[in-house]
Amino acid sequence: MRPELPDQMTAIEITAPGGPQQLVPSRRAIPKPAVGEVLLEVAAAGVNRPDCLQRQGGYPPPPGASDIPGLEVAGTVVALGEGVESWKIGDRVCALLTGGGYAEYCTAPAPQCLPIPAGLTLQQAAALPETFFTVWSNIFDRARLQPGETLLIHGGTSGIGTTAIQLAKALGSRVFVTVGGIEKIQPCLDLGAERAINYHEEDFVQAVKELTQNRGVDVILDMVGGDYTQRNLSALAVEGRLVFIAFLRGAKMELNLAPVMMKRLTVTGSTLRARPVADKAPIAQHLQRTVWPLLASGKIRPIIQQIFPLAEAAAAHALMESNRHIGKLLLQVR
Ligand SMILES: NC(=O)c1ccc[n+]([C@@H]2O[C@H](COP(=O)([O-])OP(=O)(O)OC[C@H]3O[C@@H](n4cnc5c(N)ncnc54)[C@H](OP(=O)(O)O)[C@@H]3O)[C@@H](O)[C@H]2O)c1
Repeated sequence: MRPELPDQMTAIEITAPGGPQQLVPSRRAIPKPAVGEVLLEVAAAGVNRPDCLQRQGGYPPPPGASDIPGLEVAGTVVALGEGVESWKIGDRVCALLTGGGYAEYCTAPAPQCLPIPAGLTLQQAAALPETFFTVWSNIFDRARLQPGETLLIHGGTSGIGTTAIQLAKALGSRVFVTVGGIEKIQPCLDLGAERAINYHEEDFVQAVKELTQNRGVDVILDMVGGDYTQRNLSALAVEGRLVFIAFLRGAKMELNLAPVMMKRLTVTGSTLRARPVADKAPIAQHLQRTVWPLLASGKIRPIIQQIFPLAEAAAAHALMESNRHIGKLLLQVR
């Protein structure tokens, strides 16, 4: 540890399960990096929808993870745990965490840290890890999206959606999205979506059929579940893949699974947080090899709606839960 590091830091605690007002600044001891971890002086932290679920009491930290919310940060390495050789003190990185990001300092597994892409600020880089790891591992690993294939993304203006649109388009796919308002259409088109379907006014199955000459799409990234699920099966092409990353309208539904057999569909999904470091390390390597050059060239970029001071984490959660944002929300730590 650097000798000048303080013992205590400001962090945002969840005082009890409930609304955004449960996010309260508190004083905590600075965490110590374990074997294979680095200690980061946090510059900015990303806010993600799973943080809201955790605050509500529905998404507890996995065993061993910090109870402080926050799944991604960017900052400077200020101490090294035993065995860390890939980073040195003073390196600027962004990192995927299992928790602890809403704080002045946090620990991160060394393999889950990535360099700041050329040309991006630390703040911008704080918006990258959670959505890029999630999009890569679900759309490209699990659902095996190929250049030339078609992709439907639900929640086109979400943090996940704005990342997925750009990445899939940059890697050669046709992208369609659904959005919950007319004001969300143009931002998705600007990011590279060919069509943004306002689900309040249009049936996405019908729209997808029209866009694909009745063929359907090859891959659907779904965070909605519930009543979307049967319709997703209808909107998929033969050999299509449906990948779940959340169930905003519920995980339980009655389904007619006949399309799975008739069209030889694959239904899959994953959740990132609880996966071991050994699973996340290869995703980080893929991102650095394939995606970081796209960020450095400016071909894709993090879409940041608003940056709040750390102490105003509650306001960031309230905005996220209003669904009025487009892209990412951040907390400025220093
Ligand atoms: N599995 C994983 O590893 C993983 C990792 C990260 C995030 N996630 C999940 O991915 C989702 C997006 O995360 P994020 O941080 O990008 O969140 P976000 O920016 O808050 O986006 C959520 C989006 O969901 C849409 N939405 C909300 N309620 C809806 C409903 N009832 N029906 C249809 N759409 C609805 C909203 O868009 P409209 O207003 O346009 O509908 C909103 O933009 C979250 O559900 C999160 O839990 C999963």
